[in-house]
Amino acid sequence: MTKETGVLSTSQKYKYYETAVQCFESDIDFLKDNYKKIYNKEPLTLREDFGGTGALACNWVKEGPKNFSWAIDIDPEPIGYGIENHLSKLTKTEKERMKFMEANVLDKFDFKTDVIVAFNFSYFIFKKRKQLLEYFTRVREGLNDQGAFFIDLFGGTEARSELVEETEHEDFSYFWDCDNFNPITEECQYYIHFKTHKDNQKYHKVFSYDWRMWGIAELREIMEDAGFSKTIAFWEGDDGDGGGDGEFYKTETAENCESWVTYICALP
Ligand SMILES: C[S@@+](CC[C@H](N)C(=O)[O-])C[C@H]1O[C@@H](n2cnc3c(N)ncnc32)[C@H](O)[C@@H]1O
Repeated sequence: MTKETGVLSTSQKYKYYETAVQCFESDIDFLKDNYKKIYNKEPLTLREDFGGTGALACNWVKEGPKNFSWAIDIDPEPIGYGIENHLSKLTKTEKERMKFMEANVLDKFDFKTDVIVAFNFSYFIFKKRKQLLEYFTRVREGLNDQGAFFIDLFGGTEARSELVEETEHEDFSYFWDCDNFNPITEECQYYIHFKTHKDNQKYHKVFSYDWRMWGIAELREIMEDAGFSKTIAFWEGDDGDGGGDGEFYKTETAENCESWVTYICALP
């Protein structure tokens, strides 16, 4: 029988989150490959906005001795986990090239980078066009002339349906719960729940997301209004079996499907 009342420890909560949601290795490959295709050189500096535990930023500095990164998050809790579990694993010189910053992504920063990334849909917290425009403007100001801003987003009819998706992992189950979607405002409430296999304990609402669901076309228009000169839309290739193959390519047309995750890149 499932026990329903657990509270996960902070370290367990981020460990499960990272296992279920993140893949910093493929994120880094995607960022480097696409930056190289655009500018014919390696990106060296990266700012991870809404960085959470900073897994991507910490692993970025392992890519080479000239790589530097910053992970920005407003909440000290995931930063604390990242310092203990990611930063601590870096060598002395790698540590000197990575910086966690407890800050608001809307702040003005005194450094510029080749790449700025906002992954796992975190900018969906900005529900008004004006707020998102302000954020994208700050991002453009924070990029080098040969810079690139990458965001991910998800959509499709299924993403707007109130349903719970369960994914099994080795020692826990991950639940992605669309609790509410308002078609008028496009505001949505999502939760992440976990269930441990060992003791069948369910942990409800471990993460909660009060978001607005933005679409590709409107995001690209807001990026252009923020001063970006070009935006590139990506779409995932087909695995021939109704699913995605994990490879993303540039395109302006795509098949309408029930559920998709993709990327947009904006250039200054
Ligand atoms: C969905 S998590 C994303 C974590 C990580 N980037 C990932 O890919 O999994 C969103 C993070 O954004 C942070 N956050 C929310 N509002 C923020 C803001 N205005 N400035 C900086 N960080 C913010 C939260 O503390 C949280 O850690």
